[in-house]
Amino acid sequence: MRVCVIGTGYVGLVTGVCLAHIGHDVICVDNNEAKVKVMQSGTSPIYEPGLSEIMQSAMSKGNLEFTTNVSTAIANSQILFIAVGTPALPTGESDTRYVEAVARSIGFAINGEYKVIVNKSTVPIGSGDWVRQIINSEIEQRNLDTTPQFDVVSNPEFLREGSAIYDTFNPDRIVLGGNSSEALSLMKELYQPIVERAIPANDAIGKLSAETVPVVTTDLNSAETIKYAANSFLATKISFINELANICGRVGADVVQVAQGIGLDSRIGNKFLQAGIGWGGSCFPKDVSALIHTADDYGYDAQLLKATVRVNTTQRLLAVEKLQQVLKILKGKTVGLLGLTFKPDTDDLRDAPAINLIEELNRLGAKVKAYDPLIQSPEHHSILSTVDLETTPDGLVNGCDALVLVTNWQEFANWDYVQLAKQMNTPIMIDGRNYLDANVLAAAGFYYIGIGRPTAGNSLVTKRLQHNSLSIDNKVA
Ligand code: UDX
Repeated sequence: MRVCVIGTGYVGLVTGVCLAHIGHDVICVDNNEAKVKVMQSGTSPIYEPGLSEIMQSAMSKGNLEFTTNVSTAIANSQILFIAVGTPALPTGESDTRYVEAVARSIGFAINGEYKVIVNKSTVPIGSGDWVRQIINSEIEQRNLDTTPQFDVVSNPEFLREGSAIYDTFNPDRIVLGGNSSEALSLMKELYQPIVERAIPANDAIGKLSAETVPVVTTDLNSAETIKYAANSFLATKISFINELANICGRVGADVVQVAQGIGLDSRIGNKFLQAGIGWGGSCFPKDVSALIHTADDYGYDAQLLKATVRVNTTQRLLAVEKLQQVLKILKGKTVGLLGLTFKPDTDDLRDAPAINLIEELNRLGAKVKAYDPLIQSPEHHSILSTVDLETTPDGLVNGCDALVLVTNWQEFANWDYVQLAKQMNTPIMIDGRNYLDANVLAAAGFYYIGIGRPTAGNSLVTKRLQHNSLSIDNKVA
């Protein structure tokens, strides 16, 4: 099928590349000329495991192209994906101006061939009808003899950064919302190879499940709501386990064991029960806020979702509270951060807990050092100009009074903590993701503090703290 994807951000590029991989003729459109040039040369502008390989292979087969010419791409395609950004406005609402601009371009360029317009961007509930109206009003202004025919379908994405290629080919479900059976059946045809798991082999894809992918067809508003509901539920699940971690820390229980114990109940499930210093990224914060805002617009106070956000806001600064419990005054102390990104396997710092943590440590007068495998220069975020970015474990820990593990990058599990402990003023580890082995850290000489679990080790640290006129006076967790 002939497909055009408008907007080559994270979602658009992954969607376009994956649809080309399963044999469709895909043209990806972006108005950023420099970015289009980069993609035309076979380079992915974002870091995503496997993306470049699949992109280059589809380009070499001739079924993936990149252009800035939106009108020609629209006219030549049967299925048009709108995949432009819908960033959050300061009020929490989605900024839909880019979706509106694309809808106008479609109304302006659409020709006689029937087309399916697919909303892939996460758009406010009700946007499907709104997009249809914008396209129709543009068409009317053209005074054509024959009115071009089209339908709008909502097809939300559920891709995780760092696993986007795997998730595209191994979805738990495909959601299609719309009221036209012709459009829905074309969409099913488009996704048939993914549904039937008939995907050309490629090392970057990973192992496919053998089961057919469920396709959920709904009306437009329900499909749009499913996207917000999924992300809000997952964020709520994490805030729930984080709240429980805070209770565990106080009553002397271990949240890791509690999560395991409740997660085996199939009604609860064991995913997204990892307690830590909070959720971030480009989707959860934006989507939970947008759903709260939509509820407000319709006169409903979404109390549970507001609590989900409140728990997360507090959770992000929990590491500072724990640092204060052991180091007391943070002014003049040096704190080393292990990881900066909102989760591992991405270079994304959008709404990352690390940013709030650095702001607070700066406010309290602490010196901040950081090591992240993918963030090694300050241009990624303005806050990084206040941080000493280190490129080795030794560089990070040297002279530190405490470390905070912010992102659960795999390499942190393999560091030589015996050697690292020796280079620190006081070997204290606040494990913000409950990622490291507490016993290994304790044996290496660290005082280990997780989130909602018993602390481990302390003799060496106590001695060094006493030397600095400080003490560990209570078990913090
Ligand atoms: C999320 C959704 O998972 C995806 O379906 C949607 O399309 C986009 O938003 P992503 O933002 O890539 O994907 O990250 P995800 O892996 O879901 O993690 C989100 C945040 O939650 C991260 O900050 C992560 O560290 C945190 N998290 C996740 C936890 O704190 N605990 C967990 O158990 C799981």
